[in-house]
Amino acid sequence: MSLTQLSDIARAIVADGKGILAADESTPTIKKRFDSINVESNEANRQAYRSMLFTTNGAGEFISGVILFDETIRQEASDGRSMVQVLKEAGMIPGIKVDKGAKPLPNCANETVTEGLDGLRERCEEYFGLGARFAKWRAVIRIGKDIPSKNCIAVNAHALARYATLCQETGLVPIVEPEVLMDGSHDIDTCDMVTEATLRAVFHELYQQGVSLEGTLLKPNMVISGNTCPQQATVDEVAERTVACLKRAVPAAIPGIVFLSGGQSDEVATLHLNTMNREAKDLPWKLSFSYGRALQAAPLKAWAGINIEQAQHAFYERASANGAACRGEYT
Ligand code: 13P
Repeated sequence: MSLTQLSDIARAIVADGKGILAADESTPTIKKRFDSINVESNEANRQAYRSMLFTTNGAGEFISGVILFDETIRQEASDGRSMVQVLKEAGMIPGIKVDKGAKPLPNCANETVTEGLDGLRERCEEYFGLGARFAKWRAVIRIGKDIPSKNCIAVNAHALARYATLCQETGLVPIVEPEVLMDGSHDIDTCDMVTEATLRAVFHELYQQGVSLEGTLLKPNMVISGNTCPQQATVDEVAERTVACLKRAVPAAIPGIVFLSGGQSDEVATLHLNTMNREAKDLPWKLSFSYGRALQAAPLKAWAGINIEQAQHAFYERASANGAACRGEYT
């Protein structure tokens, strides 16, 4: 696939008023979500739940792409079409999570490195054949006493770039996700500093390894106070600090930045994105969303294993709110 084709896909994902639904929860993570609504996490229920989301009427107005988990990309929806077909017919591009999770990093207590590079070329080729046109790899950077270490940032940045090169070789747009966690009592200044250092390391590696930025999307955290920090930054402050940090560290050739929600409530995640797009002018990249929990919390609760119509209504509402936030028009 040519660079033009990759960059066309990347730009389609961040088309005006559109963003990504991250529905790629691993089996243990979706179990946690289902536990919260007392629904058993078995293959049939996971299929029913995701099929409910993907067949929501009109979701394609606001959702340009959906990140799937390995099990889901091979599944059929409740109406017998493949999940991939459902998405394509609704105008949503299928994507796939290709990392194998964050694992303990030797010599670095309480830190992780994301694994999954072995066999990645072959897996990317298979996923392309199954219809995926973009991929995701999530690196995790934790803030705490004496962490993150330089080593943790460096090995995760290196792995992200290795992943991105293999995706582009196969024709998948890589979503590069270095998540600085919001867990902890640190303040917004610390998050800002760690996020900038992480992004600089990531873009250095992408450059070293020859990744084409025009065919890449960045999925970062927002610059935000730790979730147990006594001094919580305001919405305006988060928006301003996030944009300023990204301007310092993210090259203009990146077509779009799609934020993760990372544990923010759905309403707050929407407000942050909306404020950035309302206030910041003439940015080189689109600012959009690739939310998991912030798009799914409401429909998951409404669904409760049975209520399809109410759940689809709740999902449509969150998708539409975030679509408006991409234009800075959410009220
Ligand atoms: P959250 O929006 O729930 O953080 O999930 C996004 C995601 O895909 C994390 O990898």
